Amino acid sequence: MKLVKLIANLGYGSRKDVALMFREGRITDPDGEVLYADDKVPHEHIRVDDEPLDPPAGLLLVMNKPLGATCSRKDQGRVVYDLLPPRYRVRDPALSTVGRLDRDTSGLLLFTDDGALLHRIISPKAQVAKVYEATLAHDLRGDEAALFASGTMMLESETDPLEPAVLQVLAPRRARLTLTEGRYHQVRRMFAAVGNHVETLTRVAVGGLTLGDLAPGEWRALSAHEISRVFDAPAVD
Ligand code: URA
Repeated sequence: MKLVKLIANLGYGSRKDVALMFREGRITDPDGEVLYADDKVPHEHIRVDDEPLDPPAGLLLVMNKPLGATCSRKDQGRVVYDLLPPRYRVRDPALSTVGRLDRDTSGLLLFTDDGALLHRIISPKAQVAKVYEATLAHDLRGDEAALFASGTMMLESETDPLEPAVLQVLAPRRARLTLTEGRYHQVRRMFAAVGNHVETLTRVAVGGLTLGDLAPGEWRALSAHEISRVFDAPAVD
């Protein structure tokens, strides 16, 4: 792909804007040598205003979603896209969240511009584990793990039973729940169905990927090796 189109697709500006950036000498190699629009340069050798060019298409980002932000693009309030540089909103192909977390859920949120990858992560067939930790309003009764694991649990107004889910009791009012699907408000509705109420909810892992040291609101692009960890078993303890 021509450099102007490549850089414009990454959201740095229109092709006209990017052509101007070349003329202004803002696009350089790592040694500060000015690049020209018809140069052939590896992606990782391109700098814009001395900063490495954003990753190419095929991107997977991980964010520690803070409470209070929604995963919608259109919401009037605070949205997760506001936490990324503005140009990430206009990348082509477009970046979207891999599934959604509620406004009041924090933790591991993925973004990608790769439709096939997105489908592989969220499809229940892929069995990618999504691991949540919840604090609850009431003590656990003791029968929840068996019901959640049964594969026959029905949520109100749904016609298909839930896939088996794994509940680990961490404390009388604290639990870790591992799902392989992502129905609307699923964790909250599962606990509501057993007479409880989720007070706080955090996603701590997707497959073998955890948040590491990302603070709330922070994000980073994943390497190819880290992307493959999404398809590993979870390693939370
Ligand atoms: N289940 C929920 O109830 N909320 C989320 O955000 C994710 C899973």
